[in-house]
Amino acid sequence: MAGLHVISSAFLKSAVRPDQYPNHSLPEIAFAGRSNVGKSSLINALVRRKKLVRTSSTPGHTRLLNFYTVNDAICLVDLPGYGYARISRSTSRQWKPMIETYLTGRTNLKGVVVILDARREPTRDDLDLLETLKKRSIPALVVITKMDKLKGNQRRERPHHLKMLLCEHGITPVPFSAVTGEGREGVWKAVLNTLNHVPASGASGSELHGEGLVV
Ligand code: GTP
Ligand code: MG
Repeated sequence: MAGLHVISSAFLKSAVRPDQYPNHSLPEIAFAGRSNVGKSSLINALVRRKKLVRTSSTPGHTRLLNFYTVNDAICLVDLPGYGYARISRSTSRQWKPMIETYLTGRTNLKGVVVILDARREPTRDDLDLLETLKKRSIPALVVITKMDKLKGNQRRERPHHLKMLLCEHGITPVPFSAVTGEGREGVWKAVLNTLNHVPASGASGSELHGEGLVV
């Protein structure tokens, strides 16, 4: 299956406000989901680096918008997680507008990977996010992570169940595990597909699918 051949990946910068976002024309793909669901781990798996993005077993680890470039052609944006009850109210008041401002105002944004835990039902926040993306015509992909935690029939049943729940959005979730690497190619394929459907000013579809980039 086609996936991106990652030649280089690098941390670009962190930001809170739009004036701090990178001033570039690269297409951006953002990673969103509940706190602790595995957003940062997914980015590390995609670029095959254990520590490009810092991960933590403590929820609420990623607190800024973090921008990473891949092959100097795509920018992956790690977003802070939502729905973590134990962060202080003043902190959560800062987070929501930070994420919403980015999602609704960033012209580089070409798609959002919404990450769900294979073992859990989508939350109100997850569904609200998908609704917001739909309203704003921002392409959404869904990745079901932590598939390694499922055993036996559950491995087939959970993705099917989540697909049924998301059918109104017309989304087929991609099963994934940062532990086993299962689904990595499938996630890249979905990301590239999204980028090639939305013409980007910085990197054209032919660059992203060019010789040597896709393996
Ligand atoms: P915040 O930045 O706090 O919102 O979290 P995050 O969504 O970036 O999650 P992160 O990648 O930091 O992972 C959270 C915890 O889940 C860490 O302990 C990871 O090791 C673990 N984890 C992430 N992905 C997987 C996976 O596919 N399988 C298993 N078993 N654990 C995972
Ligand atoms: Mg994180």
